[in-house]
Amino acid sequence: MPEKTEKDLAYAFAAESKAAARNDAFARKAELDGYTQIARLFRAVSNAESVHARRYLMLMRGKIGTTEENLETAFQNEIKANVEEYPKLIKDAAQEDKKGVVKAFSQSRDVEDRHAELYKKAMNDMLADREPDYYVCQVCGYITEDEAPDNCPVCGAVKAKFTLVN
Ligand SMILES: [Fe+2]
Ligand SMILES: [Fe+2]
Repeated sequence: MPEKTEKDLAYAFAAESKAAARNDAFARKAELDGYTQIARLFRAVSNAESVHARRYLMLMRGKIGTTEENLETAFQNEIKANVEEYPKLIKDAAQEDKKGVVKAFSQSRDVEDRHAELYKKAMNDMLADREPDYYVCQVCGYITEDEAPDNCPVCGAVKAKFTLVN
């Protein structure tokens, strides 16, 4: 495949991933404003953009490996976000005194560490035939196994903010 197409796939993957997240946020806002049907449409389009993003990623060279390789890649990405990427972003936001952003970036950094830990555990769980349920904090993205905590250990959100993801 010519180089340009590979770049275009990467561009389209990033754009569609963003559109999916943006439409999901629009859906939540519509829900809050009482526009249930519009929220449904935003969610449907968000899901469709995810289909596009996944399709492009699968067409890109070397992006999807075996599940063992993908676990390792996912683990390394979380570590990189925790150790290299978020610390820089936190520093920039702190320098500009953007307290809300510092908080969001800091909580995400802590959560990425937890994600890395879960990936590491999953490799051992596979061998031990252990199959935990995962609950995700809808405020900060922290994940717990088997049950939602009374309060999120990273952001303090209450139990009701956790969603079971299957
Ligand atoms: Fe993560
Ligand atoms: Fe949280």
